[in-house]
Amino acid sequence: MALTDFDLVLFGGSGDLAMRKLLPAMYARDVANDLPPTARIICVGRQDSGQDAFLKMVETNSRPHIKASTMNAATWSKFCARIVYVSLNASDANTYAPLVEALRDPELTRVYYLATPPHLFALICDNLEENGLVTPNSRVVLEKPLGRDLASAKQINAEVGKVFQESQIYRIDHYLGKETVQNLMALRFGNILFEPLWRREWISDVQITIAEKLGVGNRMGYYDTSGALRDMLQNHLLQLLCIVAMEPPTSIAPDAVRDEKLQVLRSLKKFTPTTLAQNIVRGQYRAGHVDGATVPSYRDEPDAPQHSRTETFVAMKAEIDTWRWAGVPFYLRTGKRMADSLAEIVVRFKQIPHSIFNQPTSSFQPNCLVIRLQPDEGLSLNLMAKTPGEGMRLKPAELELDFRESFKTPRMDAYERLLLDVLRGQLTLFMRGDELEAAWEWVEPILENWEQNDNAPIPYTAGTWGPAAASALIGRDGLQWREEA
Ligand code: BG6
Repeated sequence: MALTDFDLVLFGGSGDLAMRKLLPAMYARDVANDLPPTARIICVGRQDSGQDAFLKMVETNSRPHIKASTMNAATWSKFCARIVYVSLNASDANTYAPLVEALRDPELTRVYYLATPPHLFALICDNLEENGLVTPNSRVVLEKPLGRDLASAKQINAEVGKVFQESQIYRIDHYLGKETVQNLMALRFGNILFEPLWRREWISDVQITIAEKLGVGNRMGYYDTSGALRDMLQNHLLQLLCIVAMEPPTSIAPDAVRDEKLQVLRSLKKFTPTTLAQNIVRGQYRAGHVDGATVPSYRDEPDAPQHSRTETFVAMKAEIDTWRWAGVPFYLRTGKRMADSLAEIVVRFKQIPHSIFNQPTSSFQPNCLVIRLQPDEGLSLNLMAKTPGEGMRLKPAELELDFRESFKTPRMDAYERLLLDVLRGQLTLFMRGDELEAAWEWVEPILENWEQNDNAPIPYTAGTWGPAAASALIGRDGLQWREEA
């Protein structure tokens, strides 16, 4: 479906996200000829630097994030011609005149992308309304963090909801834009093989890991007030869990999918102080080695509070109280400065009930489906197969589907896909307000408990898989994290 003409307004237009992700994503779609010739990108910033200085900044800060193979002088200048820089103070309605002037026909699609700290969301929405800039064709995109607890998430929903209808609000979780996440839906609901087995009778456990070698870098100001639970688990990991665990939606329509995801979030078993202590591990990295280089301790990173108790790692055993999933552990894990950078979902099936071969049942590795999101995208299914030659000896073997190899079509980055969806008005891959609140509602008792008990994170060495307690957590159930097996 071709896009109709639009004005895309980036609040936080000179910020890190715009430079590293949003402008490169728009450039990629421009080069792919997806953007209407007159479509514009209006970047809003505070600095009164002027158009030329802003374009220089884009050249310095954004261009290096664009694939060199897609770059030439003509495409770059065509892209730059779409960019309009507007300087205003986002929290002051009286400064919005340059934006009023820059926006074109109110009949066009207007997207307001708020890549700003969340305390500005409501203010910006009010100021847009006060200046008469919210049209029926307007949409607003909210970037994370979408609150830091249930109350603040509710407040964002309520305040943004005063200005925009729910159908105009796009809450981004960029993990939902990743190719493999949608492929997981294709796998589950486009094939007959898996769905009958996708339940407690046949699945023994599910592991979801998002591990990063990166540390906190220059984001300490934000990160230290957030931590891994808020930064990664409440959103990305829970969204992945929803896609794995949801009931088949009746269609791919936004509310059909989001209704089912909401049911999963509402069915997550609540932690009590006892189960929380047993089933959640929080950690913080100490100095170590990553890729052969020495890296500092979290507390020695630039601007880190000396006695910070913020977690950079969290692992937990979650459960879903439904007929489909009762008793199936979902192990979730995420951390910074880990041994490797990867994101994957591992679905382990149950052991065969009886061995007819001359080897014990325990020598059969249970079938295991691994859905890889990063670094490469693909699926592998571990099966038991006969080793070639005489005799009947079974060994694990892998069926492998590498998306890059199988489908030679060019890939889209998560932000490219999600921006296109916003511009097309497709809400399926965005969180609804009630989903956001349900996720915070489940996470909040954990945050409260940590705060009340002044729960210190367990140190782990950078470049490892986290605290030993995380291995013990899954080890108690006789299992191992896949990378440690
Ligand atoms: C962001 C987090 O949402 O996701 C970052 O704020 C994290 O801390 C990032 O590094 C990871 O995303 P990706 O796509 O690189 O795995």
